[in-house]
Amino acid sequence: MSTLLTLFANQQPTSLPLHEQLVRTLRSAILAGHLPMHSRLPASRTLAADLAVSRSTVELAYGRLEAEGYLTRKAGAGSFVALAVTTPSPRPAQSIAGLSRRGLAVAASGACHDIPQVGLSFASSQPDPRLFPHSLWGRLMQQQWRQQGERWMNYGDPQGLPELRAAISSYLVQSRGVVCDPDQILILTSSQQGILLATQLLIDAGDTVWVEEPGYPGARTAMESAGAIVHPVPVDDQGLNPLGNHPRPRLIYTTPAHQYPLGVAMSLSRRIALLHEAQQHGAWILEDDYDGEYQYDARPLPALQGLDSQGRVIYVGTFSKVLFGSLRLAYLVLPTPLMAGFCRARAAFDGHSNQLQQAVTADFIRSGHFATHLRQSRQIYHSRRDLLLTELGHHCPQLTPIHSGAGLQCAVGVPTGGEVRWTSIANGQGIGLRPLSQFYLGPATHEGWLLGFASLDNQTVRQLCHRLGSLLKT
Ligand SMILES: Cc1ncc(COP(=O)(O)O)c(C=O)c1O
Repeated sequence: MSTLLTLFANQQPTSLPLHEQLVRTLRSAILAGHLPMHSRLPASRTLAADLAVSRSTVELAYGRLEAEGYLTRKAGAGSFVALAVTTPSPRPAQSIAGLSRRGLAVAASGACHDIPQVGLSFASSQPDPRLFPHSLWGRLMQQQWRQQGERWMNYGDPQGLPELRAAISSYLVQSRGVVCDPDQILILTSSQQGILLATQLLIDAGDTVWVEEPGYPGARTAMESAGAIVHPVPVDDQGLNPLGNHPRPRLIYTTPAHQYPLGVAMSLSRRIALLHEAQQHGAWILEDDYDGEYQYDARPLPALQGLDSQGRVIYVGTFSKVLFGSLRLAYLVLPTPLMAGFCRARAAFDGHSNQLQQAVTADFIRSGHFATHLRQSRQIYHSRRDLLLTELGHHCPQLTPIHSGAGLQCAVGVPTGGEVRWTSIANGQGIGLRPLSQFYLGPATHEGWLLGFASLDNQTVRQLCHRLGSLLKT
């Protein structure tokens, strides 16, 4: 009998597929330092027999963990932990006593950004902090603090600062094709909070939500923690495809401007089909526009929210990519009848967002600095995207960019069998790669990586592509 069984002993019932439960349990144990580097895992046949699951379930889970860089597998020798964790997580799920069933499920679902941290990395999908106008931001902060310091020290409106709501609303109407007024904007700390709030307020435990397959793990985590049955709906070359045999949803999560992670923009006909489908089912749509401002090759389509005549779409926007992640400012654009309930919930959960930062962000937008920063950063990311494609074409002809017209990262396909093999070699050599299989709930249909480029300077892009090219020859 395998010694790993204690890891599975306290598992709570969940709607996740069995292989996904296995992946999560083993991944948490590795990240928590319970399975140290080089430890040998039981053979898939043994673990399958001990857990009374099929061997292919264990094979699928081991394959995923290998692709993510947590395991290496050698034919005839076995499966071994490939990740050395230097600072074990202080809060491994198995050791938390006293949590409720919901608490245990949340703790086991992992964070949105559980990726191995290695030396030189393509893994980040972050903006470049060096491009941000720090001193200007500092001046605006000082000015606000001097002029209205006492106001910013008091508690504020749970819906958000009126000045910021007005600035966001006019930006969204002019630049993103959203149809709204300031009263429909609810300021939050993050898109993640928006997704969580929408899920908690719009669905009951046991309701079905559709997510994109592959899709954003942060959304899945939020929905699972609200007790949703998360149903993956495939993405094709027009975006999420709602047609097919799917259980009736209460909520549909989608990234139409720039699908995460594959990068396709949802076509107009698909947007219309999706709105129609939502109407048929009486479902809400959660439109996550996390980096739609960064479009390089074509004019972006207006937001799905702008096409919605039924009041079914909730638009989620964030400043994490266009300004900086630690600002912790994001927003929902809500159909008017939902606003009162969402504001009450926001007040109950955590009050409101930081007043001073809201005021500074409003000034930054209203005085035109936001438009300038967007224009300048878009130009630079565009040139980095071009450089990445040129260097990949030169050094890594085996890789095929999937959709590269937008965003801070680009998904590339690798030849069959290559993702698992090269990810673990790359991790071993200190090159961080984020495998596409990580974004699937079921078996992956694309092999490849999500390559972040926006925060890398030209020299680093060249160096990484060169090293990746050498590695692909092994
Ligand atoms: C699809 C998607 N939505 C939302 C976010 C994060 O936004 P926030 O920092 O506002 O939670 C990310 C971050 O990478 C993302 O990839």
